[in-house]
Amino acid sequence: MDELPVLSNAYLAIQQGVIAEYGSMHDLPAGVKAQKEIDALGRFVFPSFVDSHTHLVFAATREEEFVMKIKGATYEEIAAKGGGILNSARKLQQTSEEELFERAMLRVKEIIHTGTGAVEIKSGYGLTTKDELKMLRVARRIGKESPLTVKTTFLGAHAVPKETTKEKYIDLILREMIPAVAEEKLADYIDVFCEQGFFSMDETERTVEEGKKFGMKPRIHANQLHRSGGVQVGVKTNALSVDHLENIGEEEIEVLKNSSVMPTALPGAAFFLGLPFPPAQKIIGAGLPLAIASDFNPGSSPTGNMCQMISLACIKMKMTPEEAINAATINTAAALELEQTHGTITKGKVANVFITKPMPSVAFLPYAFGSNVVETVILNGVVQD
Ligand code: NIG
Ligand code: FE
Repeated sequence: MDELPVLSNAYLAIQQGVIAEYGSMHDLPAGVKAQKEIDALGRFVFPSFVDSHTHLVFAATREEEFVMKIKGATYEEIAAKGGGILNSARKLQQTSEEELFERAMLRVKEIIHTGTGAVEIKSGYGLTTKDELKMLRVARRIGKESPLTVKTTFLGAHAVPKETTKEKYIDLILREMIPAVAEEKLADYIDVFCEQGFFSMDETERTVEEGKKFGMKPRIHANQLHRSGGVQVGVKTNALSVDHLENIGEEEIEVLKNSSVMPTALPGAAFFLGLPFPPAQKIIGAGLPLAIASDFNPGSSPTGNMCQMISLACIKMKMTPEEAINAATINTAAALELEQTHGTITKGKVANVFITKPMPSVAFLPYAFGSNVVETVILNGVVQD
């Protein structure tokens, strides 16, 4: 994971939205003329980030809870008072699909300009059939109307609405929501917040197994606040990824070793909530891959800036810049089943790249935390303005 090949004094040719060729300038055939040329002197060209975990469709921000947290309230206390996910659900239920789309598109523009080219978007702030479908339609529409490659995930099992019991709500998810989501082909994946006070290991398993019957592969919110068994369920159900991992130990790492599940750290959420960071070096040291995503959401990571995630991974998880960049590109691409088309600069892959501002080395990207080093964004071969 620590290897990131860099070609200096190089060219990159794009044709019809695809990476056609790249190589050393010395090998560029004489007389080749492109329709449009960009001089990247002193700059780096990176493959666009693939953000494999976001909740970027939401109605409103939650800075009031941020202040409560500053004054000492915990994430769970806020959730128990009807804040947290239920707060976001209330606001989303009152927002029209069109309005939701408009608001989400502002975030889409933001992440495009910080270097993201492909993104996963979850539901989970609807919590009624109608509103979960609404969220997923918005996510699908982003995939059609923005230059981002979008994968969608049904996360009905994100929290239990106040007016019902958990048993009844799970029943609704299994009998009504999953078939309705599948009917409209709205979700590629299914996710569950496997956590104390939210959904247990058994409930997680039942839910994702039902989703699988309808063609949605699992990915799990695992081990964020407690050692909730999310990793074990993820492995048992053959999930594509287990995400968060703030609370894991040797046991979970052992379980992951015998699987093809992608461990995924969300350093923005660990930072924002003041949680321990996932033990990246232990994970990588065990021979496992590690992915890094933003978790962009109003409650625990109000940014989708992948350069920030990479900085946090380096500073707080002691990942090398090379490891962190691989984690945020090719490993997240694999977690979204996009590794054949995204996540590296490879001939034949989608031409999703960004050009940095002038910078001296790869390590400058995470080093310059807080400043946007992304200067020019090219998605599907088209320069974004
Ligand atoms: O990934 N942990 C569960 N879901 C989100 C937070 C959702 C929220 O607080 O709105 C997360 O951190
Ligand atoms: Fe999340």
